[in-house]
Amino acid sequence: MANKNKQTDPLAKLVALCKRRGIVFQSSEIYGGVGSTYDYGPYGVEIKNNISRLWWDEMTRNHENIVGLDSAVILHPQVWEASGHLKNFSDPMIECKNCKQRIRADEFVKECYKKLMDRFEIISGAFNDNELIKPSDLSEESPERQVLEKILALAEFQQFSGIKTPSEDADELIIEYVLKSYNQCTNCGAKDTLTPPRQFNLMFQTNIGSTGEPGSEVYLRPETCQGIFLDWKIVQESARLKVPFGIAQIGKAFRNEITTGNFIFRTREFTQMEMQYFVKPGETSEALNEWKEKRWNFYLSLAIDPEKLRWLQHPQDKLAHYAKEAWDIEYEFPFGWGEVEGIHDRGDFDLKAHQESSGKDMTYFDDQTRERFHPHIVETSAGLNRMMLTVLWDAYREDEQAGEERIYLALDPKIAPIKAAVFPLVKKGGLPEIAESIYKDLRKRWRVFYDFQGSIGKRYRRMDEIGTPFGITVDFDTLEDNTVTVRFRDSLEQVRIDKDQVGNYIAEKLGDV
Ligand code: GAP
Repeated sequence: MANKNKQTDPLAKLVALCKRRGIVFQSSEIYGGVGSTYDYGPYGVEIKNNISRLWWDEMTRNHENIVGLDSAVILHPQVWEASGHLKNFSDPMIECKNCKQRIRADEFVKECYKKLMDRFEIISGAFNDNELIKPSDLSEESPERQVLEKILALAEFQQFSGIKTPSEDADELIIEYVLKSYNQCTNCGAKDTLTPPRQFNLMFQTNIGSTGEPGSEVYLRPETCQGIFLDWKIVQESARLKVPFGIAQIGKAFRNEITTGNFIFRTREFTQMEMQYFVKPGETSEALNEWKEKRWNFYLSLAIDPEKLRWLQHPQDKLAHYAKEAWDIEYEFPFGWGEVEGIHDRGDFDLKAHQESSGKDMTYFDDQTRERFHPHIVETSAGLNRMMLTVLWDAYREDEQAGEERIYLALDPKIAPIKAAVFPLVKKGGLPEIAESIYKDLRKRWRVFYDFQGSIGKRYRRMDEIGTPFGITVDFDTLEDNTVTVRFRDSLEQVRIDKDQVGNYIAEKLGDV
């Protein structure tokens, strides 16, 4: 079938696991939640912190010429004028005059996609040269032919999914055509109430002070890197850095996204991990390639399936207002390919824009060549929450053990929130005391868990579900021969080792985690 539009959330099983195990769940739930905001529970915060620590170490510890920064969320409002965000950071939106709902134009196209397909009778086999309408059946000048050609290209790209329309493909012609053909609100159902698309800014606005006077408006940053642009000189001078050098930052960013969804993939509040790399003009191409390779390898180091990763280059006419060249690392989520990280050549756009707007010198003086110039910037920009979704989905597994379904997260031990769990087989016979002493010993080095409640099978399952790589069980044999069982999460293999060697054994298995 041409359209496999599924109504169920393809991430539902992961969402359910995350809630059940307190990893990530809806925020403000007792009040019914706020659109697409999430809280990270005990295990979620550990996973998130592990990922951000790995990113931070990779950037700052592994590169002597990259330093960190933690800049403010609220910046001078002029920043957003200079950066182009006030003018350009917007999405085309359609508004319903009846219910006032705003709908992203590309989302609206997605909703109407099936109807469009039906209209052209492209239900199935449209590409098998059967008797269905083909563009060549229509005259070359006809606007319907142009639309059909675009829809066919779109459908081919989406492999008939019908729901994975990427926003960049919903161009003006399609939006116009869809609105003309199906002017019906997807929210309230009213007919002929939808306006032509208009641009809406994505920045959250608030006011400094209590009066809300004109001129007191400020914005929550929609990207963390602007703080880096503003502070780069003080950082460079105080840390005595010479080009090429980088500044890394992890922090919250806010976007009043009109359409959120796919769990933590697109939310209004999220964490970015950005690094701006300052190079000599003319050296961006080399730096871009270097960072593309390093960033790709980072995902491999998180044990993400390389088959589910790909590069997407932004075409010239779709580049963000600041970018000269842009590449995305995409992951194949169950709802389609989605961007996890962008690597951009921003040229000298930002430094020149801030120099012009502030009147402050934003040049760098190279004391070796005696040259003065605006450094060019290569940026790596990743979303921590999206990276966490990537890691979780990639690690999600279901199998069957002794006729029972088992769910587990095959997380890389570096990311696992708990590295090992220690269990006494039963609550008596001196087993808990031995297990507790092993637990206390391991706790000095890693985040570990002690659990004596419920059957051993249930205790294993609970740990499997949060991705604990090793289970250590103290049983009656331990009393005889001083050994314990180590069970491996993924293979379920079990080995017996000396109880006094558990720490060394786990350390060896974990590498330098
Ligand atoms: N400074 C450049 C910049 O912000 P971007 O492509 O707009 O570039 C970078 O964003 C990354 O931030 C994305 O690849 C994504 O991982 C994350 N991101 C952007 N919007 C997001 C949202 N609404 N929710 C979660 N993550 C988001």
